[in-house]
Amino acid sequence: MKKEQSGNYQADIHNALYEEEYLTLRLDSTGLINSTGRKTESLNGKWNFGVDLYDTCRRAQWFKETTHTAQGDPGPLDWDWEAWDRITVPASWNLERKELHYFEGFGVYTRTFRYIPQETGERLFLRFEGAAYRTSVFLNRTFIGTHDGASTPFNVEITDTVKTENRLVLVVDARRSPVRVPMENTDWFNYGGIYRDIYLIRTSKVFIKDWFIRLVPDGSFSNIAADIELSEACGNGKALLEIPELNITQEITISQGKGSLVFPAKPALWSPESPNLYDIFISYGTDQVQDRIGFREITTKGQAIFLNGKKIFLKGVSVHEDHLELGKTTTPQIIRDTIRDIKEMKGNYFRLAHYPHDSRFARIADEEGILLWEEVPVYWAIAFENPNTYKDAENQLAELILRDRNRASVIIWSVGNENSDTDSRLAFMSNLAKKAKALDDSRLVSAACLINHEKLLIEDRLAAFLDIFGINEYYGWYDPDFSKLPKLLHNSNPQKPIVICEFGGDARKGQRGTEADLFTEDHQKRLYEKQVETIKACPYIAGTSPWILYDFRCPRRLNRYQEGFNRKGLIDADRKTKKPAFYVMREFYLSLTSE
Ligand code: GCU
Repeated sequence: MKKEQSGNYQADIHNALYEEEYLTLRLDSTGLINSTGRKTESLNGKWNFGVDLYDTCRRAQWFKETTHTAQGDPGPLDWDWEAWDRITVPASWNLERKELHYFEGFGVYTRTFRYIPQETGERLFLRFEGAAYRTSVFLNRTFIGTHDGASTPFNVEITDTVKTENRLVLVVDARRSPVRVPMENTDWFNYGGIYRDIYLIRTSKVFIKDWFIRLVPDGSFSNIAADIELSEACGNGKALLEIPELNITQEITISQGKGSLVFPAKPALWSPESPNLYDIFISYGTDQVQDRIGFREITTKGQAIFLNGKKIFLKGVSVHEDHLELGKTTTPQIIRDTIRDIKEMKGNYFRLAHYPHDSRFARIADEEGILLWEEVPVYWAIAFENPNTYKDAENQLAELILRDRNRASVIIWSVGNENSDTDSRLAFMSNLAKKAKALDDSRLVSAACLINHEKLLIEDRLAAFLDIFGINEYYGWYDPDFSKLPKLLHNSNPQKPIVICEFGGDARKGQRGTEADLFTEDHQKRLYEKQVETIKACPYIAGTSPWILYDFRCPRRLNRYQEGFNRKGLIDADRKTKKPAFYVMREFYLSLTSE
């Protein structure tokens, strides 16, 4: 449609389609570089911050810093970078200032930084570990690109725009929307802002962009596959892969920027009981990277899951990235404390719900010997018919897999949670499952599916595309008729492993009553006892991750016991007070002898 012209047109107030310009340059998984083991320069700290309710920074192009009119006279400005209050990066802005607690709009972050090249031909990248939800990046008055997705990393090359003295402006849009991933209705708190680390990475002109090193899942536990990708498709020659503790030095031929090799090796296998990790070094030209990798095999056969050829039961619990003081921001200590809690429960597995958690979780789980289910937030009623929504979901899945596929602790990629079994959902999520397999030939793919309540059957067309059939069931809570659970399990005869990804019920810490009184610890404990008793009796359940380890913020939960929190935690949101049901799970997991 031809845009109407008018003599008094002003872009900053009349251009209703202003955002289109900022969606022309997409920062996505194709540009992602593996930053593991690389020297980085942090840009964390205090940034100036403006609450930009109407997205005026992008409408009126504040980032261009036009301070004078075309006639050269100083014009009135609506922005004032250095005069704005400062905010901490990384942080969930909701917990930084009282007035930002429920803020879900546009926030403008800005700071300066100095850059002095250290070698000729050096390239410079800006890297974000996570910013919620849409981030538009501006450097030295230039639009660099926009990233969608609240929980996955992205980076952008700024070699051609960076100067000695630099001004960085970031517009972060935390709005929820029916066409985003997740969409606007979820059961968790929508934290906003640059809530994970942001830093600079220097590289040589041609560098090692990515690598994927794993045990070939052929049942021999004695072949390692290595894929290496350079920054340039034209790169040729040899890369060198070294695993000193295995006396391995392998040359990998690179052509058109890529190289792959499978070679014999007998590593000590990684497992929760013995989380063996090996230092690996990859070099190409003047570039060298290093990583710490565990070698293990995860497969399924019939209704069972096998780790390194041994049948296992996933003794787990679900967990959100939600902290009373920090929101969605986390720290290595919080991660270690979370792992301490699952170990106290005698578990070996976490379902990291419902989106990719901080990259350090998988790194620390590698060291601590914890198995992980990682998930993209294809949650509930996603716009399955919308091609842009699919692109967003697939990109978030690719960014997650590229970020974590060298982490032994990650055994399952989940393509979503509790989606209605429609044709458009089947197409959308089966394509995600295929994408996961294409990016990673060494892990299992699952999703948390819903029960067919009409037939009281474990049934979902998506299961045909999954290795593990995850199910959420709330018998004893949302469906008070607990007798349906044994009937459901008896009616069903799944041809692949079933993991119960969610069961549970709310209890406010210290709330006492009878076993019939909802929201009491007594009711929750009895519910868990009945669940565990029934699960124990079912031979084809290969794991459980009850909902959930800690109470968490949730704007949908407003009764007198919840007060804005989902109280299904086995531990209160204080991350200290364990409820009686915690010990029911501990007893259950203690009782499971390792087959
Ligand atoms: C659902 C959903 C969770 C939610 C939980 C609940 O199964 O997957 O995100 O928090 O149930 O209702 O508490």
